[in-house]
Amino acid sequence: MNNKYFTERQRATLQEIMRHRRDVRGNRFTAEPLSDDVVQQILQVAEISPSVGFSQPWEFVIIRDQQTKQAIASVFAAENEKAKQQFSEEKRQQYVNLKLEGILNTPVNIAVFYRPSEDGVLGQTSMQEMGEYSVVCAVQNMWLMSRALNVGMGWVSILDPQKVKKILNAPKKNKLIAYLCLGYVDEFLESPELEQLKWESRVPLDRVVHQNRYKD
Ligand SMILES: Cc1cc2nc3c(=O)[nH]c(=O)nc-3n(C[C@H](O)[C@H](O)[C@H](O)COP(=O)(O)O)c2cc1C
Repeated sequence: MNNKYFTERQRATLQEIMRHRRDVRGNRFTAEPLSDDVVQQILQVAEISPSVGFSQPWEFVIIRDQQTKQAIASVFAAENEKAKQQFSEEKRQQYVNLKLEGILNTPVNIAVFYRPSEDGVLGQTSMQEMGEYSVVCAVQNMWLMSRALNVGMGWVSILDPQKVKKILNAPKKNKLIAYLCLGYVDEFLESPELEQLKWESRVPLDRVVHQNRYKD
């Protein structure tokens, strides 16, 4: 029997970490270096994440090299240029002023890949995407552990995955799931930056929770 019970205080701490987890962008990061030991602690919680059929289909590329970051930052710049066309005139004005990555502002970037299994995976036989979702679970663990270590983490998805793969020499069958920027910060915001900037607001639970089935 697993007799590890958690206390009220531990529950409160977990909730605090979740509540204060933030996506951190470039303008918040400081120049303070991130030790290998801290990076290792973040990777160790990825290792213990849940995965479909215990397939553990994740691979990580730790990027400290400035030239590599520079190449990724160029991919972001090109994609972001295209991205702004997708917003209405009014939103576009705001969009161009948003800082949406911290690639060059952080000491460590981590590219997270999904490595599909050669064999069948228990539980992944009907919904193939479960493998990729497993990698996202690992990313969430990393995000929470980073916050617990007072390290800021930002997820950058305005990237051409094929170009990123080429820069990182990733195996053909691997799929880029997340590109993360990690570093110490001058401040963790109290609420999402996009909420503070009135880009989006938090959706109340009662709007997304349905009882038994969706209403007709
Ligand atoms: C799958 C995923 C992709 C994201 N990609 C980006 C991104 O490319 N650039 C960015 O600035 N934020 C990105 N974010 C961060 C979200 O904007 C952020 O999580 C959201 O605004 C809520 O803020 P919070 O994480 O601080 O609570 C991403 C988040 C997720 C979960």
